[in-house]
Amino acid sequence: MTRIINENFVMKWFLLLSLVVAVVAEKAGELPSPEPCDEEACKLPECRCSSTEIPGGLAPRDTPQFVSVTFDDGVNVLNMWTYRDVIFNRRNSNGCPAGTTFYVSHEYTNYQLINELYNRGYEIALHSISHRVPQSWWSIASLEDIRKEIGEQKGQIAHFANIPADQIKGVRLPFLQMTGNTSFQMMKEFDLMYDHSWPTAAYRAPGLWPYTLHYESTQECFIPPCPTASIPGPWVLPMITWADPRGFPCAMVDACSYFPDREDENAWFAFIMQNFERHYFGNRAPFGFYVHEGYIRAYPAVQRAFVRFLDTINNLNDVFMVNAVDIIEWVKNPVPLNEYRSRPCKTVPSTICMARNCGPLVAAHNQITHWIPVCNVCPANYPWVGNPLGR
Ligand SMILES: *[C@@H]1O[C@H](CO)[C@@H](O)[C@H](O)[C@H]1NC(C)=O
Repeated sequence: MTRIINENFVMKWFLLLSLVVAVVAEKAGELPSPEPCDEEACKLPECRCSSTEIPGGLAPRDTPQFVSVTFDDGVNVLNMWTYRDVIFNRRNSNGCPAGTTFYVSHEYTNYQLINELYNRGYEIALHSISHRVPQSWWSIASLEDIRKEIGEQKGQIAHFANIPADQIKGVRLPFLQMTGNTSFQMMKEFDLMYDHSWPTAAYRAPGLWPYTLHYESTQECFIPPCPTASIPGPWVLPMITWADPRGFPCAMVDACSYFPDREDENAWFAFIMQNFERHYFGNRAPFGFYVHEGYIRAYPAVQRAFVRFLDTINNLNDVFMVNAVDIIEWVKNPVPLNEYRSRPCKTVPSTICMARNCGPLVAAHNQITHWIPVCNVCPANYPWVGNPLGR
């Protein structure tokens, strides 16, 4: 009798104490610290340790070489010309349409063009509403800041471009400026699948494959602060840096410290291929061509080299130019090259655009007047941070 009472008593106090600890931790906003990755506990499709091992234990020759081509910032009539010339109507060697991912920022974006890119099968992803300067603002942004800038941008793009919100799954932080745990916490809340902002040079050869943050990441922090909490859910799609001609790393093609003569197409083609082959003849970690459209527009020889590179890889039967999200989908359920090749192509249910050119809308923060092409009813006010739909 006494024993039972005692046990009950202890149990009650223990439960109460646990509750108090949980509440205090919640109040402080503290996230759990991660443990070193446990390969036995961390299993696909939900969990993967940060590792250079090929998913599914595949040999390199049985592994599709994925190529992630990405463009950042606003989408407008000018840069659409380049996308038409360089990207549109490409197919991989298996006959399926080639992908590209657009990390879109709101200002000066033409949402009718976003609708067109989506309907052509390209991936639309988040790059913040304001893309504000200075870069340091992002390094210390609060969870609420990041919700308003990136989380709420999901609904903003879905609304104005009239595309399904659940097809917006990716994030790239402005300036690749990491925000510690914050952006990944936000991603969980807004049901976003992966981040494509985090460069690595230490894990270039062999390259780092995508992974989750259930456990401790082994990736070096390029642009601190990087996440250090255990945040189960979102994936990290590392940006494996290129090596420039003197060996310095660059995450974005247009941000290399050294580069070949930008009038020299052959030198640029060789530069791209050299970086590509490090992946292709290595562990086939996803290869990235990450760039701003302005750069390839400004340097026609660089653009021609890029097109030659795309023509080359679109003819290789083990290379696939895909949307970034497709890489994560493959990593979650890795299948060998021959099975992947013979899959039916994915299709996108089309979504219409009721085109309207909305304006004049004056942005309250800087008094600039905008006309915004959208695929929906016009907003009453300029859509901005804190009022993403311009209500
Ligand atoms: C992220 O969370 C971990 C674990 O709670 C904490 O130690 C770390 O300081 C946090 N990072 C930042 C930048 O707040």
